[in-house]
Amino acid sequence: MQIRTLQLRNYRNYERAVIRFAPGMNILTGLNAQGKTNLLESLVYLSLTRSHRLNDDQQLIRSGCEAARISCAYEDGIERKIEAVIHKGGKTLLVNGQPVHRSSEFIGLLNVVLFAPDDLGLFTDAPRERRRLMNQEIAKISPAYLKAVSRYQNLLRERNIHLKRYEPNETYLDTLDEQMIMESIQIISARREFIRSLNEEMGRLYRELSDSEDVAGLEYLSVIGPEEDPEESLRSRYRENRQKDVENHVTGIGVHREDLLFTLNGQNITLTGSQGQKRMCMLSFKMALLAYIQQKTGRQAVLLLDDVFSELDQNRQRKLVQMIRGTQCLITATEIPPLLKNSGAEEYTIISGTVSARQKGIQ
Ligand SMILES: Nc1ncnc2c1ncn2[C@@H]1O[C@H](COP(=O)(O)OP(=O)(O)OP(=O)(O)O)[C@@H](O)[C@H]1O
Ligand SMILES: [Mg+2]
Repeated sequence: MQIRTLQLRNYRNYERAVIRFAPGMNILTGLNAQGKTNLLESLVYLSLTRSHRLNDDQQLIRSGCEAARISCAYEDGIERKIEAVIHKGGKTLLVNGQPVHRSSEFIGLLNVVLFAPDDLGLFTDAPRERRRLMNQEIAKISPAYLKAVSRYQNLLRERNIHLKRYEPNETYLDTLDEQMIMESIQIISARREFIRSLNEEMGRLYRELSDSEDVAGLEYLSVIGPEEDPEESLRSRYRENRQKDVENHVTGIGVHREDLLFTLNGQNITLTGSQGQKRMCMLSFKMALLAYIQQKTGRQAVLLLDDVFSELDQNRQRKLVQMIRGTQCLITATEIPPLLKNSGAEEYTIISGTVSARQKGIQ
């Protein structure tokens, strides 16, 4: 997948911008608060129909304006143009100029993987954030998964409303449980596969990037054990918890309470890892995501690296550069990393929401 052009209109601190990207490495430099992260965020928005930084879309509209527009033309076997118009009442998504009514038909058309310093917060965030990440990434490659999660959430909402009643109807709860179990089977199977496949790749990438024998990985903290058959186990889990749920007026177990653990040598990395180890762990996770997307879809996602180079030592920078060769990537930094000087990368400068290309047509 190759991004050709990005157009921004009244988005964040961009009034109007048209940026043409090169197939390989694109380096965007600018001082603090000029719009580097905003630019990458606009591509994340098109990929997920939400920002990675905030839940309120209204903040994306340039102050004093009515609506923001993000448009991207890219090649993915065919040339396509996708757009998001964010207005006061919500958003409109368009593919080749035609409105799309379901976000499941839009999410993942453009597939980007972002790595930003803020990502390290994910280790200590509430489980909800890690679930969100897992859901997001699986949804980008599987619209069926997105639909299963959305049906599950509707059933869960219904079950919780019902549990608030003075005397919940047990037969109705049985029906809801069965439906939730059916959705959960799909969800668990996709999450198991996601974690299995990332885990393998991540271990290899961590060793390569950090030149160490440490083993980085992921552990799936599921509502059922790793070897258990989902249908039977979920049925008994729901049965065992029914009384408690009725007393607490809320559904206490299920895929909505699952978590993802980042590990280093089998230990929770939050408890034992150094800052540098955590950074490498997250970087290898993100690089493993690229490999996962490639493996599942046969397509290469675009890599977005926000202010990452300055945090890595020379050796790691060099390894990362080797690793991303052949992948289209957008790299932001306050100044060009010395290692990338004269590397043939396309260079851009961002000043107060104005982007200008510094060197053209190379790579
Ligand atoms: N809705 C908005 N309307 C106008 N300006 C906005 C809006 N949202 C954010 N900004 C401006 O965008 C700028 C921040 O941009 P961004 O986060 O992309 O900076 P950056 O170049 O990544 O900086 P740093 O190097 O510090 O990370 C701020 O000046 C902020 O005021
Ligand atoms: Mg930034």
